Amino acid sequence: MSTVIELIEAGARALQQAGVAFGHGTTNAFDEAAWLTLWRLGLPLDDLDRVAQREVAAADAQAVQTLIAQRIATRRPAAYLTGEAWLQGVPFTIDERAIVPRSFIAELIANGVIDPWLGAHTRAVLDLCTGNASLAVLAALAWPEVHVDAADISPDALEVAALNVARHRLQARITLLQSDGLRQVHGRYDLILCNPPYVNTQSMAALPPEYRAEPALALAGGGDGMNFIRPLLAEAPAHLNPGGVLVLEIGHERAHFEAAFASVRSQALWLPTSAGEDQTLLLTREMLDRC
Ligand SMILES: C[S@@+](CC[C@H](N)C(=O)[O-])C[C@H]1O[C@@H](n2cnc3c(N)ncnc32)[C@H](O)[C@@H]1O
Repeated sequence: MSTVIELIEAGARALQQAGVAFGHGTTNAFDEAAWLTLWRLGLPLDDLDRVAQREVAAADAQAVQTLIAQRIATRRPAAYLTGEAWLQGVPFTIDERAIVPRSFIAELIANGVIDPWLGAHTRAVLDLCTGNASLAVLAALAWPEVHVDAADISPDALEVAALNVARHRLQARITLLQSDGLRQVHGRYDLILCNPPYVNTQSMAALPPEYRAEPALALAGGGDGMNFIRPLLAEAPAHLNPGGVLVLEIGHERAHFEAAFASVRSQALWLPTSAGEDQTLLLTREMLDRC
């Protein structure tokens, strides 16, 4: 009979040998195998030490091996196989209708990095490009006084977003909106969070299959990755209250961002995350007004 840890180690070897890509909640084969194994066995995902030496019945071990084999054969991200993703310790429902949540803005919210720009005046928050509403939910949980509008162009993504708003019982504090950029957004906000599609065309062509399993609409940002961000920076001031700020994620596109927006280049405040110091930035309304 195998133990839990033996199944995880065997799963990790299989994932490694198959060359699957990570980045949808884990960064390595062991963590990915642990996630799939513990989930399949119905064990808590955050307490491996307690269950590592537990023996697993043959039928359950077989079920784990089948799931790992499915991950390898389909190259679908683990979260699409389990229907669940965790961000900052908070569970979210997910499926192929929306991108797997992994925004670094979640860290900024959890670590209080945005808090110096917030205060008693902060009541209205917009999560633009909300996907499965993970950032909207995290914002509502972090700042109990705020109301969050959560907008996305994709009706499919908004269906998943509605599941998460209901899952966290935040229907009274999060309003879902279908909107192309800011076009159908009519409010003014103290804080706009935005993790837009920003992957440039060349990078899109090189993405591993795991990323191609996600809606292309959620990733593709055009030639230089800035197609969504160009109108956003132009239109954001009209949607920000005085003192309001825009927090934007741009992934690995800092060079393209700085080339496209020379006038904000020297003003943007780059916010540190575990991915480094140049993937998320903050712009105040006053900075945007000067552009
Ligand atoms: C990178 S995903 C971010 C999703 C979510 N905020 C997260 O962090 O997991 C980008 C999202 O932008 C949405 N989107 C793409 N083009 C859009 C547009 N023109 N207007 C509004 N949303 C758009 C996609 O449907 C997708 O859900």
